[in-house]
Amino acid sequence: MDETRIQRIPAPLLAWYEAHKRDLPWRENPTPYRVWVSEIMLQQTRVEAVKEYYLRFMRALPTVEDLASCEEEKLLKLWEGLGYYSRVRNMQKAARQLLIYHGGEFPSDKKTLQTLAGIGSYTAGAIASIAFGKRESAVDGNVLRVLSRVLEDGTPISDTAHRKEIEQTLSRAYPPEGDMCSAFTQSLFELGALVCKPQNPDCGNCPLAFLCKAKENGTQTLYPVLPQKKEKRVERVFVFLIETDEGFCIRRREAGVLRGMNEFPSQEIEDNESAESVLDQWGVYGYTEIKRKNFTHIFTHIRWDITCVWVRAESAPFDAYTLDEIEESISLPTAFKQCLGIL
Ligand code: ADE
Repeated sequence: MDETRIQRIPAPLLAWYEAHKRDLPWRENPTPYRVWVSEIMLQQTRVEAVKEYYLRFMRALPTVEDLASCEEEKLLKLWEGLGYYSRVRNMQKAARQLLIYHGGEFPSDKKTLQTLAGIGSYTAGAIASIAFGKRESAVDGNVLRVLSRVLEDGTPISDTAHRKEIEQTLSRAYPPEGDMCSAFTQSLFELGALVCKPQNPDCGNCPLAFLCKAKENGTQTLYPVLPQKKEKRVERVFVFLIETDEGFCIRRREAGVLRGMNEFPSQEIEDNESAESVLDQWGVYGYTEIKRKNFTHIFTHIRWDITCVWVRAESAPFDAYTLDEIEESISLPTAFKQCLGIL
């Protein structure tokens, strides 16, 4: 790895960051807790989408103690729509670990941070550098893209040994401990988001253009080399909007994706089983079908082809909630929530 080239990155990038950084809510008062919550939310979710969630979460749960003691349904409701719900469940676990083992304070050391639930090398590096000013890198997809171009490095970014080497080499290039380390980590995210974009990189405005081997050779868009995409498995599922006098039926998922989350009763369609046969098996009584509509939902490894079936029923063996209750206090993953579009 061309360590000398990496060592030349911080000075121009830090100057650029000072002039171009965005005002983002988590950049004010970057306490470890605030950095942590923002970084977890920013995994797999766009900055613009995260802002509102972040502010609401911080208003509801401003401290580690609040998160540790938050009731599950309220916690999931705060996360509703962000997806990957294990992220927030792990956050609550980690908050409890912090109270039990660390007196409610975040450790500043990257290794110790990684003993907390849901905190891997990336998040630990982000907290250690942004909140504690440590010389620790935080390598995410943005950072890998920037570096693969600067170095013209064609190693697939899924290669974990390579990522580790990048993390270590980059950490050695960090400025001395303090605010500059915080700025350097964020400057790499910022460059990836604003200039060194996946498509149409804005090399004319890049502070690293003079260093960038891909720019020199006009090969920017050949980097990073992405791993081959696997075909998603397709599951056909019925989602039932079962409406009784009390409202719409909701239950907890026992298995499969979104296990432990609320759902409108659903069932994978096997052997072309009919909707009626599923409802009969469940003991839904006196129902008439009102409407059907198809939806899809994409998970990381699965695509759901949903047949949503709305029925009116005299009774059903599930709890039921009004639309107001569903809106205000029931957390419902997007895969199901979109089915309300049938109404
Ligand atoms: N992407 C990941 N972390 C980020 C951060 N702290 N600010 C902006 N974009 C990010």
